[in-house]
Amino acid sequence: MATMATMAKDECASVGGGGGDRRPLAGRRVLVTRAGAQAAGFEEALRCAGAEPVTFPTITIDPAADDTGLDTALRHLDHYDWIVFTSANTVTYVEGRLQAIGLGWDALFRLHVAAVGPKVAEALRARGVAAPFVPDIYTAAALTASVPIGAGERVLLPQADIASPALAAGLRARGASVDPVVAYRTTLPHGDAGELRRRLAAGAIDAVTFASPSSAHNLCVVLGDEAARLLSTTIIACIGPSTARAVHEQGLRPAVVAAAHTVEGLIEALEEYYVSTTGTGSTTGMRGDDLVGSSHPTESPAEGPRDAESAAERSRDGRSEELFAEAQRYIPGGVDSPVRAFKAVGGAPRFIERGEGPYLYDADGNRYIDYVLSYGPLITGHAQPEIVRAIGEAAARGTSYGAPTRLETELARRINGAMPSMELTRFVSSGTEATMSALRVARAYTGRDVIVKVEGGYHGHSDGLLARAGSAATMLGVPDSPGVPAAVAATTVNVPLNDLAALEEVLQKYEVAAFILEPVPANMGVVPPAPGYLEGARALTQKYGALLIFDEVITGFRVAYGGAQGLYGVTPDLTCLGKIIGGGLPVGAYGGRRDAMSLVAPLGPVYQAGTLSGNPLAMTAGITMLDTLAGPGVYEGLEAKSRMLHEGLLERARRHGAPAYGTRVGSIGTLFFTPGPVTDYTSARASDTARYARFFHGMLERGVYLAPAQFEAVFVSTAHAEGDIEATLQAAGAALSTI
Ligand SMILES: Cc1ncc(COP(=O)(O)O)c(C=O)c1O
Repeated sequence: MATMATMAKDECASVGGGGGDRRPLAGRRVLVTRAGAQAAGFEEALRCAGAEPVTFPTITIDPAADDTGLDTALRHLDHYDWIVFTSANTVTYVEGRLQAIGLGWDALFRLHVAAVGPKVAEALRARGVAAPFVPDIYTAAALTASVPIGAGERVLLPQADIASPALAAGLRARGASVDPVVAYRTTLPHGDAGELRRRLAAGAIDAVTFASPSSAHNLCVVLGDEAARLLSTTIIACIGPSTARAVHEQGLRPAVVAAAHTVEGLIEALEEYYVSTTGTGSTTGMRGDDLVGSSHPTESPAEGPRDAESAAERSRDGRSEELFAEAQRYIPGGVDSPVRAFKAVGGAPRFIERGEGPYLYDADGNRYIDYVLSYGPLITGHAQPEIVRAIGEAAARGTSYGAPTRLETELARRINGAMPSMELTRFVSSGTEATMSALRVARAYTGRDVIVKVEGGYHGHSDGLLARAGSAATMLGVPDSPGVPAAVAATTVNVPLNDLAALEEVLQKYEVAAFILEPVPANMGVVPPAPGYLEGARALTQKYGALLIFDEVITGFRVAYGGAQGLYGVTPDLTCLGKIIGGGLPVGAYGGRRDAMSLVAPLGPVYQAGTLSGNPLAMTAGITMLDTLAGPGVYEGLEAKSRMLHEGLLERARRHGAPAYGTRVGSIGTLFFTPGPVTDYTSARASDTARYARFFHGMLERGVYLAPAQFEAVFVSTAHAEGDIEATLQAAGAALSTI
């Protein structure tokens, strides 16, 4: 058998068979299933068990590559309770990374180690690491059943899939069109399966490769009962006899089995297979005449005998996955905000090409009814014509001046009109900056350091707000991310939502500068405040001399024009805004009592500044947005559509027997997969996130874009028509019936 190097050199030499094809893989459509795909299933099983898995699925490119993010985790192993190895490749990979950062296996001494399967345990044992192992290597649920990983424990779950990217690259280099199946799972009828089924049924895939037994198992789980039928006309190529055996056990017939356990071996075996069958009409019994018809030497996938539309569709299929793979080469995890990576639900994120009204359009040519709306800002939908026009006109006048404009005053005036508590407002560029700056003002105003926040509340990613609950004895927080100094986290105390007694206990115990909360928490899913809670928080903060800060980054101009403070009639000392007030451009704002805000430079000594603060484009978009929202009937319309959506979702969930609890305030709400009630972070986390992941993919497959995580809001816009909501409910009924 020729080596990979010789094959590359000989690519244009005559290696073809009777058909005279010089590049036997040219134009073939190959589905590369991912080895090690079970890690995604394990992640989900861990989450179901209440653990907190942290995965590094991007260790797939090159074992010799530099830091993929795992290095940072390995440097902070004290942050984890467990490390789980899902393949022998992963053991090798982690070993390489440990060495690269000057550590050895003894760095793991504090951790519990688990191995998936005896081979992996053996690989660890050979390195002097003892690990209990999960006996059933195919079943994610077996992990939590056989290894005592407890609720709340942090699990490092590296995943090294070295074979499939190399396989895809090798196939591409030989002219094949590669369709990578990124994240098939053991436990999910994955959302992409519908798409995949359609492609297989339409004969749009010529060959499928398996690089490990688990990848064969996973694909069959995904395809379900139809696996054998759907794959009956597709060439099945496996690396090594044990993969072939696993394929056979799934009721499939491997046509190509590479004796060498290498990617190169598989590519060469596949080439030889094509050489020996092309032109002879013989397909060794694996394929019918259509293979001969569709494998003409000069045929490319897009030029085949199928109609132009399906060819165009095919050429775009998998585009998001390709874009994601490319993005991961340059951007951590391929995204600029973690939730976008779909880690909580699995699969590859859709890369978006444009938005219009209530719809998003992805790079694969799909349209979705969008209920994420950029996580809140787009309350009038995508590319609202007035906003687009206003931004264009503003841009023509210059994009930034580094000097004041009347636009800032115009927007601040509108904010003050809607929320009179915001006597003075300072614009910044993000919600994170707004909350961080408001806390600085509160500390300066009170001369105190301790901040109290609600458990499960999110206020951006500044150090002091990335603190989770510490020991019950001190209540002081501990870092919720490596890189947050313990001393900073210790200035933050978490209290449960809707628990005034807990709040008072903390206010009594510490000199508290401020209590910051989302008046309608929307980052643990939407969890409305209990009647009297906001009023109680107002009274208690006043009693103990702390400031009350409403983080209305989501709720401002969302639950009512006057925000949650208008809706509930409770006046905070300071307010943070973002999202909607920028009309879809980057913006944040903080403001409030004149005496407190008078401390901000240049009026006072509290320093805070920003190159692009009060940016003219963002101010213009914000002004146009608020003027639209101030029109008649806007919030009544949002309320009606949101009610129709959320009541409909809840009703369908119950009809299909899913445990469900719905929450809603105005145009934000959440469908939790738990009988409920959901009143705080603990009860929110009782939600079945695995079921949510299945629901999410079921909806995505049916053209509805929900947040790729359970603990987010469903946002409705003025652009959603009743027809969109009806279509969404129909999709929900169908999706819920399958999960
Ligand atoms: C309530 C709340 N506060 C603050 C932030 C941080 O805003 P940004 O992402 O603009 O920094 C967010 C972001 O989602 C938020 O939901």
